[in-house]
Amino acid sequence: MDHEQALKSLRDVNNMIKEPLRTLNKIVLDDTNFYQAPGGAEHHHNYRHGLVIHVNEVMNNALAMTEGQISGNLVTAVIWHDYMKIKDYGWFGLDNITKEPYRKLINHVSGSAMEFHRLAYGKVPTHTLERIEHLLLSHHGRKEWGSPVEPATAEALILHAADMMSSRGVNL
Ligand SMILES: [Fe+2]
Ligand SMILES: [Fe+2]
Repeated sequence: MDHEQALKSLRDVNNMIKEPLRTLNKIVLDDTNFYQAPGGAEHHHNYRHGLVIHVNEVMNNALAMTEGQISGNLVTAVIWHDYMKIKDYGWFGLDNITKEPYRKLINHVSGSAMEFHRLAYGKVPTHTLERIEHLLLSHHGRKEWGSPVEPATAEALILHAADMMSSRGVNL
């Protein structure tokens, strides 16, 4: 699936969830940086538009694991989980992907949770906010893999597994 189809597919899933999460997710889906960004510099999806392709794979893996049951929290976390990779990496030439200082100073794991918090605070009930932020913060699965907290809910384990499968090129 190419990047245009990947973005459309993510929009289609997002249109099935309730407000206010649906509108919040459009911040990411409408951001041209999200659409253009690579998914990484060396390991996986390391090419322009790699991020949107990766996020769509994670979405499909997560939906397969939940047997198509659409959870607004999980859909939201999939869409936001790597959003701040747009600051981890620079992409100025077609093949020139650079690691930016942000990657070491903050990193997209905490950065995406902070960005979500900044934009969702006051719009989403505290319980929902905490559940989604947990998903974002734990998506790398282990502290030594860059997550400040480890998955503590079923959805967090699903997101981590769905993410890891895509990063290894093994998709459901
Ligand atoms: Fe990540
Ligand atoms: Fe990811």
